[in-house]
Amino acid sequence: MWFTGLSGSGKSTLAMALERRLFSEGYEVFVLDGDNLRHGLNSNLGFSPEDREENIRRVGEVAAMFANSGFVVLTAFISPYRADREMARQVIGQGYYEVFLNPGLAACEDRDPKGLYKKARAGEILQFTGVSAPYEEPEQPDVDLDTATRTVEDCVEVLIDRANLAFRLAD
Ligand code: ADX
Repeated sequence: MWFTGLSGSGKSTLAMALERRLFSEGYEVFVLDGDNLRHGLNSNLGFSPEDREENIRRVGEVAAMFANSGFVVLTAFISPYRADREMARQVIGQGYYEVFLNPGLAACEDRDPKGLYKKARAGEILQFTGVSAPYEEPEQPDVDLDTATRTVEDCVEVLIDRANLAFRLAD
């Protein structure tokens, strides 16, 4: 399940909540998250378009490996470029399921949980997605969720309904 959306749109929060829920239902679940992968496997990458492409390429490959060994994989990366998400879709294959977290830029910026939008507006962080770097919205996501008007629990319910179907189809 590929979460995409701006920084602060709720990708990590929702991936972790869904992980707990799926785990309690007996699934083997693995979460790949931008904030932790970038400290390890992808610590040599920054936020230029080329580095983001390489970030997403590696994530797609790792996600495919885990998915092929029976895990439900949840990925939480901005993944701002359509071409890069398409590449992940190709590598992952039939089970790829795209979830667009879409509270809108204003809500993400209001939340600003890490204070990064403020820094980006002040010019202290360059190439910040939504401020000074593009986010290409999915044209046909499997699910489009407005995380500003729904609770985390509500979002998890929506995804569980759809996910059960998607995972059966992928069998
Ligand atoms: S992606 O664009 O390559 O998919 P990724 O999801 O791995 O991004 O990392 C995004 C996280 O890195 C953000 O949530 C934020 O905490 C941090 N970050 C630091 N600099 C930037 C930047 N210039 N643009 C976006 N996010 C940034």
